Amino acid sequence: MKLPSQAEVALSEFFDGHPVATFAINRHHVITHWNKACEQLLGWTRACMVGTRNQWQPFYAKERPLLSDLIIDGDDNIDHHYPGHSKRSTLIPGAYESEDFFPNIGASGHWLHFTAAPLRDAEGNVVGAIETLRDVTERRVAENALRKAKDGLEHIVEKRTAQLAHANDRLEDDIRQLTELNDLLSTAQQQLVQAEKMASIGQLAAGVAHEINNPIGYIFSNVGTLQNYLEQLFEMLGAYQEAETSIAQPAVTARLRAMRERIDLDFLRQDIPALMRESREGIVRVRHIVEDLKDFSRADASQEWSRANLHLGIDSTLNIVANEVKYRADVVKAYGDIPEIECLPLQINQVVLNLVINAAQAMGPERGTITLRTGMADGQTVRLEVEDTGHGIAPDALSRIFDPFFTTKAVGKGTGLGLSLAYGIVQKHGGRIEVDTELGRGSCFRVLLPVRHTEEQS
Ligand SMILES: Nc1ncnc2c1ncn2[C@@H]1O[C@H](COP(=O)(O)OP(=O)(O)O)[C@@H](O)[C@H]1O
Ligand SMILES: [Mg+2]
Repeated sequence: MKLPSQAEVALSEFFDGHPVATFAINRHHVITHWNKACEQLLGWTRACMVGTRNQWQPFYAKERPLLSDLIIDGDDNIDHHYPGHSKRSTLIPGAYESEDFFPNIGASGHWLHFTAAPLRDAEGNVVGAIETLRDVTERRVAENALRKAKDGLEHIVEKRTAQLAHANDRLEDDIRQLTELNDLLSTAQQQLVQAEKMASIGQLAAGVAHEINNPIGYIFSNVGTLQNYLEQLFEMLGAYQEAETSIAQPAVTARLRAMRERIDLDFLRQDIPALMRESREGIVRVRHIVEDLKDFSRADASQEWSRANLHLGIDSTLNIVANEVKYRADVVKAYGDIPEIECLPLQINQVVLNLVINAAQAMGPERGTITLRTGMADGQTVRLEVEDTGHGIAPDALSRIFDPFFTTKAVGKGTGLGLSLAYGIVQKHGGRIEVDTELGRGSCFRVLLPVRHTEEQS
């Protein structure tokens, strides 16, 4: 046996003093070095190991090559023996690293991290290999604990997220229910406001109509009688005039002529019948308005669904609002061919009234035009348009015009109820209202009403 050289002794001491478990093998796979740290970590003494090829023994139950053995044999088989967990070292050229769990080491096994590197002679030939082993059990255990904690946390987060989503769903449900309730409430309120307004307008109109009806009746008949009387008087006057020539006293004749000229009898003869005619026409018109008012309110008749001629309704409504409209706009009627519709006629009149009044109020200082257009939207739906050449509706107001009490008009001029009432009425008829508008050009309110009324609409 050869005595160890100076250099080999120094290397041995270096090996022993090194705190990392390390062993070395020669080209023939025989262990040449096995340091103290190695003895401690693996539990196999240097005496047992050096000079043998048993480096596999501390790790495996059966003989097999270690990383260092494979380095000596060449790289080819490394992946086969350490599938998936070996890789080239990033620090040492030609070296490999691997990490694995060894249940045989220690009481409950150990995680080891190996690094194996070739040992070369002066010419660079591989003459052996050195392998270091680091115990990474603590790190592994910590990692595992961490992973477990993370998994646990993720699970908790998932659970909480699910709980939150559930709570959110319930909240959304509640909100939906509240919104529905709110809608119901505002519809109910709208209908109340509408009913009240209808009732008061109806009463007012009926009262006024009743009060005016009687006096107009006797004025009308008196004017007729008066006209008869006047005709007789004029006849009598003519007879007197003819008799004038046979009056003997010139003073009487002169007085009569002077009087005739003073009162301009010829003019009176022409003008009185004209005045009578005009008065009659005036009274006829007043009677007409009173009739319309009675029609419109018909407070006596309970409101019932009935077939009604929309054009007659529009006409009578226009008569009522004539005063609001006639100084501001010309009314153009463009009636199409439409059937009678099944509706609450008084309420439809109310819709027309509100739309026409709004159209008239939208006019500026210049006289405008209000067009009332009817036609069929489709086989079952009638279309009524009230179009004006007024100031139009600003975009930010447009979304609110149907809200109760929304008005852009001066106090006392607008209540903000007109469109909300109209909307409620049209909705009750199973129809809808649409608006086209352009600032400065005008607006068109389009009411679509089904020809037939079905029960679920009311
Ligand atoms: N034809 C129209 N042209 C311009 N603006 C209109 C027209 N119709 C309605 N509006 C707008 O809608 C608002 C609400 O109308 P409405 O409910 O009838 O209440 P009111 O007429 O009492 O103000 C009006 O104040 C007005 O700003
Ligand atoms: Mg109005």
